[in-house]
Amino acid sequence: MEHRGVTIWFTGLSGAGKSTITQALETKLRQRQCKLEVLDGDIVRTNLTKGLGFSKEDRDENIRRIGFVSHLLTRNGVIVLVSAISPYRAIRDEVRQRIGDFMEVYVSAPLEVCENRDVKGLYKRARAGEIKQFTGIDDPYEPPLNPEVNCETHNETLEESVNKVLAKLEEMGYLP
Ligand code: PPS
Repeated sequence: MEHRGVTIWFTGLSGAGKSTITQALETKLRQRQCKLEVLDGDIVRTNLTKGLGFSKEDRDENIRRIGFVSHLLTRNGVIVLVSAISPYRAIRDEVRQRIGDFMEVYVSAPLEVCENRDVKGLYKRARAGEIKQFTGIDDPYEPPLNPEVNCETHNETLEESVNKVLAKLEEMGYLP
């Protein structure tokens, strides 16, 4: 399918549903024969940003590197799906400015919901003090002020979330 390049940036707390929506969207876009690439925070941290921790400096560096790669791909016509907590607004906005063709998806579920899901058991460990600087517990998360899409995963189904993103992509002219 002919389409323009764009970076779709999923931001939100751990356990909010970023990866789940990204995977479902990837499936839908592949069905439409889109040229796409997925950059998932968890995976990127095992190679491109290996060695970085979770201080503000390291998180910003992580996001800057993901943004750099996303930019290269986007300008070559690829749809890039980024899934990273990316807790700091300023660096998200910096990446947005640099890439240009950019769409921010706020995957928003209240902390209590994410904590109850505790898919990886990390919240429990953070509460026990075994993991420091855990986003939402003892580290900040700055929500987007004007995201293109807001997926409230505690109030909507996965299908609804994915369809919202697809509709926005069409509305913004990235999908025919
Ligand atoms: S960031 O803030 O954007 O640089 O983080 P990201 O690259 O998305 O990595 C988040 C995943 O790392 C795990 N993890 C932590 N998250 C938050 N805070 C702390 N201290 C932390 N330590 C490890 C966690 O599994 C995150 O994955 P997700 O998929 O979001 O749950």
